[in-house]
Amino acid sequence: MSESGKTATISLGEKSAALPVLSGTLGPDVVDIRKLPAQTGVFTFDPGYGETASCTSKITFIDGEKGILLHRGYPIAQLAEKATFMEVAYLLLNGELPDQKAYDTFVTDIKHHTLLHEQIRNFFNGFRRDAHPMAILCGTVGALSSFYHDGIDISNAASRNLSAMRIIAKIPTIAAWAYRYTRGDAFIYPRNDLSYAENFLSMMFAVPSEQYKINPVLARAMDRILILHADHEQNASTSTVRLAGSTGANPFACISAGIAALWGPAHGGANEAVLKMLASIGHKDNIPDFIAKVKDKSSGVRLMGFGHRVYKNFDPRAKIMQATCHEVLSELGIKDDPLLDLAIELEKIAISDEYFVKRSLYPNVDFYSGIILKAMGIPTSMFTVLFAVARTTGWISQWKEMIEEPGQRIGRPRQLYVGSPERDFTPISERS
Ligand code: CMC
Repeated sequence: MSESGKTATISLGEKSAALPVLSGTLGPDVVDIRKLPAQTGVFTFDPGYGETASCTSKITFIDGEKGILLHRGYPIAQLAEKATFMEVAYLLLNGELPDQKAYDTFVTDIKHHTLLHEQIRNFFNGFRRDAHPMAILCGTVGALSSFYHDGIDISNAASRNLSAMRIIAKIPTIAAWAYRYTRGDAFIYPRNDLSYAENFLSMMFAVPSEQYKINPVLARAMDRILILHADHEQNASTSTVRLAGSTGANPFACISAGIAALWGPAHGGANEAVLKMLASIGHKDNIPDFIAKVKDKSSGVRLMGFGHRVYKNFDPRAKIMQATCHEVLSELGIKDDPLLDLAIELEKIAISDEYFVKRSLYPNVDFYSGIILKAMGIPTSMFTVLFAVARTTGWISQWKEMIEEPGQRIGRPRQLYVGSPERDFTPISERS
């Protein structure tokens, strides 16, 4: 961050404030409003924080107009094409791509932490058999705090790093066990001879009595899904992790807060919502009626998997996901999947329809990821869980960056109060 040399002046009656304009390395400049209240007595109002930079960050850059997504400067398409998820995780956490030695050490360290404390198994039994796996994930990740709380000194770099390694290593195990618990299947322990994505597939689908054969196309697709969801700047769940972390809370509790924020259908729940939407449309013939409902604001129906707060031309992740989608379906020999046919038809109509074009509503990453995951045999209820597995790397990298920021302080947004003015209390007997 540097001073741009420019100044923004705000005049308010007699008072005025000359506010410094700051430049980053990429993206628009920002007006530093920190002195605005002291100089003019007013705050700024930005519900949803759409126009407010809440922090500086060196991790991810997005240009929504141009459809650019960079992690530590590297374009997402190059990472998805050439890197493994573990390389991306190292990059997000440490700022640079690892050389071979650093990579091998990182992968070995992650594998060292994939097991869960055996007492964590007991937590699963406390959930209803039909619990949503996001509820199990949120609760169990939060419960990790009780296993590591005393050992975490967030002011110590080695301790922060150990927590980051632990959470990245353990989240796939918790996620896969959440799924197996709801099915009544035996828990499958992590295998250190497999990659991160392969191990996740094994913990999801292996049975104890048989050798599990990894399909390399599906493992690569899973690795790519993890890369594409690994981080996305200051979105709702990441901001939640940062806000929780700004209080000095335990990192496992902060990640659990991020999982809760991710759950909603406007965020990580969208890929699950896409499949539900396709199932509810049922047949291509019903698409025109459905589109008419989407356009009718009073219906409250949205075209799930379309639109993005930041990307207003296209979502660069969606392009890669679309290609991966075709690879997976061809590997699995799926030619006539009715839901896929429906999705393709819907995509065609929506990208040429004036309503969507005018509002820059293009398919986002979740539109295709739901279809891929379904083809891979992953149940709909696990889609957001998988998003959380991938995003944990971004969350913990952002948490670490925030704690390491000089002068870091508690996050505390302000408000515009629109409630009752001050009034006197009336005893209950006198209230009509
Ligand atoms: N279907 C129909 N209309 C839409 C949609 C949609 N999916 N998204 C936005 N609009 C309309 C909206 O009604 C509004 O119209 P108007 O200007 O006439 O009032 C206009 O487009 C702008 O919408 P907005 O609500 O101001 O946009 P936003 O930036 O607040 O919302 C969004 C972004 C992602 C929440 C929204 O596009 C949405 O609900 N999409 C469906 C859910 C979805 O797919 N979410 C996944 C996002 S990608 C994963 C991630 O990165 O978290």
